[in-house]
Amino acid sequence: MFKRHDAAIIALFVALLIALGFIPPLPVPFIPVPIVMQNLGVLLTAILLGSKRGSAVIGLFFLLVILGLPVLSSRTAGPAVFLGASGGFLTGWVVTPVLYGTADRLLGNHAHWWQRGILLWLVGAVIVDFLGALWLTVGLHMPFASALTASLIFIPGDSLKTGLAVLVAQRIQAAVPQLKQG
Ligand code: BTN
Repeated sequence: MFKRHDAAIIALFVALLIALGFIPPLPVPFIPVPIVMQNLGVLLTAILLGSKRGSAVIGLFFLLVILGLPVLSSRTAGPAVFLGASGGFLTGWVVTPVLYGTADRLLGNHAHWWQRGILLWLVGAVIVDFLGALWLTVGLHMPFASALTASLIFIPGDSLKTGLAVLVAQRIQAAVPQLKQG
């Protein structure tokens, strides 16, 4: 179960995700999925909160989406969003804290920040963008090669967001060590 201060931290990160959603999305050619800043919040959630509290953040955020609140950058809402063009990427957002948190635990307490950064990049950029492409093929019948090529457009931005998340996380963890994954 979560302690009271965990609930406050989870609420804070849900608010961060919502706030990042106010940064206007950037449409891209070839693919009906925009470049957004909201996944920077997902990366920060994963690296700072790990699997349990991180999943609670993404779960609560998606509950708001399912309930119809326009909290996503695209301002789309409702359960159908998860079956739309962004469905695979959003699935990746759920998977990110679970996979990152689990792998980070395996790395142990003495892992370097660059190791954690690579791990976060693999999970929060590479796997998320791959799942996005996979769903465009399975759900929207886009040829896999086209979907994968189109998804590659997100990799440079998502890599920069990963670097930024690591830098911000380093500073936040130094300032608030009690935030460390519980
Ligand atoms: C939405 O607002 O409807 C969700 C958009 C999902 C965008 C994905 S997240 C991973 C990849 N990186 C981006 O900048 N955009 C896509």
